[in-house]
Amino acid sequence: MLILGIESSCDDTAAAVLEDNKILSNVLTSQDAIHTKFGGVVPELASRKHLQSINPVVETALSQAGVKLQEIELIAATQGPGLTGSLLVGFSYSKALSYISNIPFVGVDHMAGHILSVFLSEKHPPFPYIALIVSGGTSSIYLATGFNSFKILGRTRDDAAGEAFDKVAKLLGLPYPGGPHVAKEAEGGDPEFVKFPRAWLEENSLDFSFSGLKTSVLNHVNQQTLKNIDLKYADISASFQEAVVDVLVEKTISAAKVNNIGTLVVGGGVSANRRLREMFANKCEKEHLSFYAPKPEYCTDNGAMIALAGYHTFMHQGATALDQDVFSRSQLG
Ligand code: KG4
Repeated sequence: MLILGIESSCDDTAAAVLEDNKILSNVLTSQDAIHTKFGGVVPELASRKHLQSINPVVETALSQAGVKLQEIELIAATQGPGLTGSLLVGFSYSKALSYISNIPFVGVDHMAGHILSVFLSEKHPPFPYIALIVSGGTSSIYLATGFNSFKILGRTRDDAAGEAFDKVAKLLGLPYPGGPHVAKEAEGGDPEFVKFPRAWLEENSLDFSFSGLKTSVLNHVNQQTLKNIDLKYADISASFQEAVVDVLVEKTISAAKVNNIGTLVVGGGVSANRRLREMFANKCEKEHLSFYAPKPEYCTDNGAMIALAGYHTFMHQGATALDQDVFSRSQLG
């Protein structure tokens, strides 16, 4: 089946064409240059930019795939969660495209896209698996028992992991999105330089909390500045990154053990982080668990994962009615 996947939940306008799990094109325009001076996404600017980008991005995806719109058999678009104004651009555009070209349409939960994005790589995990989805808007642990069957086991109570990376980057004067910059800075740093707190929360809790960690970094920076001590950017970045990664890995492994699941999967922008993948790989080997991660380009928001999840949503529940609206909170589990 030829599927056009369209994604506009936050600040990336993306489209992809998929044919039976084969990616024919995967096109993305980033808005980083617009939002970097604000240190985070400005929703109003994001939706305006989506409006400018959506048509060229979709046309490029079709032409790179060598496919005409009339050949597409399903249009899949992110329905939520995300920024309402941003979601509305891709979702309304896709509904209009479906209506004028008489192609079935399906609305996709963005989280399902991330949970399944590992299927865009050659090596596929078996079901059931535990999925850690970490991005700028979410940090959640899911139990996936099938392509349409997900149960949430834990979520962040405040900041998402990516949001914490972005805020710490802003504090250190690094550009937006901060995750890759903090990670790069951390490469030469000492992860034990500052013992930042780990929020384990109540015993057995699989929820996350990163706002205290972010405040600890702020306090450290303020104390050093007051004492006129030069900030050790690499060491602070490495220590912060280690604190985030430690909690993400420990809690995900604990979710696998409690539920007696032998396979772990990651997804979302933060799952591109090298230290996170390294710690997962090491600990999973020790615990005799299998670990799967998508290629870095399918960790951040992309149209291919929406096309893939759209296929499974469509097979499971059929087309989405064109009077449906976007949603800002995930509808999964
Ligand atoms: O999945 P994604 O594109 O969706 C949004 O939430 O928009 O994730 C973007 C997030 C940003 O917060 C970014 O800083 C973070 O993922 N990120 C990373 C890395 N690459 C992207 N965080 C840590 N390390 C990275 N290498």
